[in-house]
Amino acid sequence: MRRGIELYSFKEIEKIKKACHVVAEILQVLAENVKPGVTPWDLEMIAREEARKRGAKPAFLNYRPPFHTERYPAALCVSINDEVVHGLPRKDRVIKEGDLVSIDFGVIIDGYAGDSAITVPVGNVGEEKERLMRATKEALDRAVMKAVAGNWLSDIVETIHSTAEEFGVYPVLRYGGHGIGRKVHEDPFVPNNRKDLGKKDVKLRQGMVIAIEPMFALGTEETVHDGDGWTVRTKDGSPSAHFEHTVAVTKNGPMVLTEI
Ligand code: MF3
Ligand code: CO
Repeated sequence: MRRGIELYSFKEIEKIKKACHVVAEILQVLAENVKPGVTPWDLEMIAREEARKRGAKPAFLNYRPPFHTERYPAALCVSINDEVVHGLPRKDRVIKEGDLVSIDFGVIIDGYAGDSAITVPVGNVGEEKERLMRATKEALDRAVMKAVAGNWLSDIVETIHSTAEEFGVYPVLRYGGHGIGRKVHEDPFVPNNRKDLGKKDVKLRQGMVIAIEPMFALGTEETVHDGDGWTVRTKDGSPSAHFEHTVAVTKNGPMVLTEI
């Protein structure tokens, strides 16, 4: 099952880290700009400009992911409330108080990719959305600690799924993290829901670099595709949250690369 999983040297991980740092910086700028009255397209424009200033190439813009037949037409995924992931940034949607705005962004620098996502609450979002966000962030933090050589991929999946259960929320089916490095999406797939793991498992090894990205919803693990061909929504319309880090498995343990 290990076939196809890239192992990166210390030098290469340093390069991935460069891309990841830029991603983290730009996500911070974007988070500061999430306010009532702003459109997802405004955020898209900021992301492109911030990437340009840093000599970084937006990794998703015109990228064809392995799970799709077409190229993604934007630099950002902006997924609001019941939108789970891959939300196309729109010009005709206005962010408002109470929204949960998840922003997913990646860049490529010098041939190496970084990928990260955050969920930003707009003003007062209420207790339920707060719990959902806390659960998702907690799942990411706990899963990161499992990214240790000798552990199994299933340790990460189990940590994410059981954290969702502990908080009474649902890990969405079929979407998850992935290996990353020279390409945005590499093996292995890192499920958020234990039903997606099946019988295959992977032993984590020094040099693996993975994006871990729990996506939780308040009411269901089921999703549907929006008419735009990209945006994924919860089937029951309940809100969703998403956090993602790019993490290297090193001899000194997990190394979160997408931090400033
Ligand atoms: N972090 C997202 C993912 O791994 C990035 C989506 S890339 C896109 O699925 F091009 F498909 F948008
Ligand atoms: Co990702």
